[in-house]
Amino acid sequence: MNTFKITLLRGDGIGPEIVAQAIKVLDKAGKRFDFTPQYTEALMGGCAIDETGVPLPQETIDKCLASDAVLLGAVGGWKWDNLPGNLRPEAGLLGIRGALKLFANLRPAKIYGPLKGACPLRPDIIGDSMDIMVVRELTGGIYFGKRGRETVDGVEAAYDTEYYTTTEVERIARVAFESARKRGGKLCNVDKANVLESSRLWRETVLRVAADYPDVQLSHLYIDNAAMQLVRNPKQFDVILASNIFGDILSDEASQVAGSIGMLASASLGNGKLGLYEPIHGSAPDIAGKNIANPLATILSVSMMLRYSFDEIAAADTIEAAVEKVLENGLRTPDIYTDGCKKIGTVEMGDAVTAAL
Ligand code: IPM
Ligand code: MG
Repeated sequence: MNTFKITLLRGDGIGPEIVAQAIKVLDKAGKRFDFTPQYTEALMGGCAIDETGVPLPQETIDKCLASDAVLLGAVGGWKWDNLPGNLRPEAGLLGIRGALKLFANLRPAKIYGPLKGACPLRPDIIGDSMDIMVVRELTGGIYFGKRGRETVDGVEAAYDTEYYTTTEVERIARVAFESARKRGGKLCNVDKANVLESSRLWRETVLRVAADYPDVQLSHLYIDNAAMQLVRNPKQFDVILASNIFGDILSDEASQVAGSIGMLASASLGNGKLGLYEPIHGSAPDIAGKNIANPLATILSVSMMLRYSFDEIAAADTIEAAVEKVLENGLRTPDIYTDGCKKIGTVEMGDAVTAAL
């Protein structure tokens, strides 16, 4: 029987509640599909600051590097909002992505049939379905470029630098092309090449890589137009390739089009099999501890973990089917609730998916 070593970063806010539900589902999947998840706990984010003074202790990096996959809840909260940038919980998140060299962030945005009513767009815009994969570069660009503050002629100023090497663009472009090949065969590259030099290099590099993927239909959009097209006609998209910051923004937008940010999972991958899996939503401190958070994004992140890190495809498919079934049965956490459905809490949702497995 396969044993998979998983480091749990439960994090802050609703993080611990949603991770607890995902673990239930993973354990049940292990029993059914004959693998054993083995958990190690580590601190990251606000909880790490409280315990150790830093958002990402070295011990956490070491534990993650020694595991097969990392499951993350969410980090951050008001309590730590006034700390300097390098000591905020978010710095821990960027740090772990960098330390594990997880340059490729996959964020699928899909409308589940039963949740069509939660989509804020008109039914004729959405049609039968929407199924987009946002491929976001995760360890470069303005998130990791040179930043600082200075005083110029007595006036305070600050800067962050968008910076990409062709190596960085090429490897993420390949991930996006490969993903398009396995899906609908369409890739839309998003940049701001009409203004930014870094985007011009980005686009040139994408075009160069495209020569190796003649079977993939490549298009380009500027970020402003892409943001508009995503609500005007989301069905036109299959795979979207974007830089760190553009991908951050578009994936939130895509998630809302899909009904709720509480539904969207993500996988952060590097060159090997080690991956970090997390919901794309934040720690939502305002609803923490109330048993109302939606655990489905974290449960779906576990399904991505099974798919990308463990090659347990049948288990991954089964979890996704279980989520769909629970939704079909009308069970809803408050964020996706519509008339005629049954409103349930975080724990009940975890139980329902576990039972449906
Ligand atoms: C995300 C989040 C993070 C990001 C924040 C919390 C640093 O918004 O994962 O999308 O910007 O990458
Ligand atoms: Mg984000």
